Amino acid sequence: MTRTVIRGGLVVTAAEETEADVLVEGEKVVALAATGSSAAEAWTADTVIDATGHYVIPGGVDVHTHMQMPFGGTTAADTFETGTRAAAWGGTTTIVDFAIQSVGSSLREGLDAWHAKAEGVCAVDYGFHMILSDVTESSLKEMDALVGEGVTSFKMFMAYPGVFYSDDGRILRAMQRGAANGGLIMMHAENGIAIDVLVEQALAAGRTDPRYHGEVRRELLEAEATHRAVKLAQVAGAPLYVVHVSAASAVAELAAARRQGLPVFGETCPQYLFLSTDNLAEPDFEGAKYVCSTPLRPREHQAELWKGLRTGDLQVVSTDHCPFCFSGQKEMGRGDFSRIPNGLPGVENRMDLLHQAVVDGHLTRRRWIDIACATPARMFGLYPRKGTIAPGADADLVVYDPAAVQTLSAATHHMNVDYSAYEGRQVTGRSRTVLSRGTVVLDDGRWLGRAGHGRYQPRATCQYLG
Ligand code: URP
Ligand code: ZN
Ligand code: ZN
Repeated sequence: MTRTVIRGGLVVTAAEETEADVLVEGEKVVALAATGSSAAEAWTADTVIDATGHYVIPGGVDVHTHMQMPFGGTTAADTFETGTRAAAWGGTTTIVDFAIQSVGSSLREGLDAWHAKAEGVCAVDYGFHMILSDVTESSLKEMDALVGEGVTSFKMFMAYPGVFYSDDGRILRAMQRGAANGGLIMMHAENGIAIDVLVEQALAAGRTDPRYHGEVRRELLEAEATHRAVKLAQVAGAPLYVVHVSAASAVAELAAARRQGLPVFGETCPQYLFLSTDNLAEPDFEGAKYVCSTPLRPREHQAELWKGLRTGDLQVVSTDHCPFCFSGQKEMGRGDFSRIPNGLPGVENRMDLLHQAVVDGHLTRRRWIDIACATPARMFGLYPRKGTIAPGADADLVVYDPAAVQTLSAATHHMNVDYSAYEGRQVTGRSRTVLSRGTVVLDDGRWLGRAGHGRYQPRATCQYLG
């Protein structure tokens, strides 16, 4: 079996920071030992990677992506091949994407279709959540089977009436089923019925620019839906994970529920931490680049999101990577913001933006790894195979240069999309060497990976009790 040793780096996990060498055999980490110790010096290896002056961190775990998702009359621009390659460039070695149940179809049909898209083309490992858009007796039964085969989380929508929307009764039924079978309900918490009224009124009044997308998707309607989702979960006796939290008042709803001891969890995304309604208001339809749901909020919300990440009221930062090109895709909504496909690119940028948050003093190094690697892995049943560096874990490892300065740009990124939501932003930190299950896929700006290296990861049920 091939042996690789990574020498001289600062190993950072969610739990500790140690100057240690890491020994990899085949696809697994087999040992850590203090750098310079007789144990580490005695290791022989086929490949030695020098990590002096670098961090050695677990590969990122991004539990919210939408590769080649059909949505808003078009399809997200990254395929599983291009999207997972871009993820690896950015230090993310596992994604959990969303398979979709269409209305009138079974969960199985949706899952099979997503397996067919991803099989044999991914550059790094991947798993699936299931979007539950048609709650019936038979789809509820199917949930049990999916949990048994490693699809242990189900996204539901209080938004998008006529597409993915479920009413409260359907949500309650799915939550009850999840409480019984261990499946975790992930909620898109926005009151879509009320939002659609405001959309119609805005368009009728001639308010068609991208910034109105942010205005009609009112903060109150995120907070209200978050509150309702928490109460429905409480009635069902189920845990709840709220996706892409953007509003301060939604964080407050989660915090209040957690103070009551309820098992409710929340994720936010880099776009809500680094971008704002100022971007949505950019002239010449440029604001369309920033149309996503939940929407970007006024800048003041960012402090509450950072606080939530520090206090633990928010547990995870994922990307909600759902890229649509400006040209030909976002442009579908010129003259009608409701036709702009919703979603932002970001799978390549998450680890670096969050490292910048460490540099800026928002997060500690360990909290960076916690919210980007360890907790998402725990939350979605991948731990300790993913999300940490320990004997027995998959050798998904990143040698991270904390001093490298880079400028984020569409001209240099690897996502299959014609703009960057962070164009021109300078960040400190970059993945130098990336290993996926022991194989070096990226080294010093050279791509060494291959489509098909990535393997499907069945998941256990939620392992997060925090
Ligand atoms: O705007 C977004 N978030 N697009 C992807 C679909 C979703 O709701 O997560
Ligand atoms: Zn959503
Ligand atoms: Zn999403």
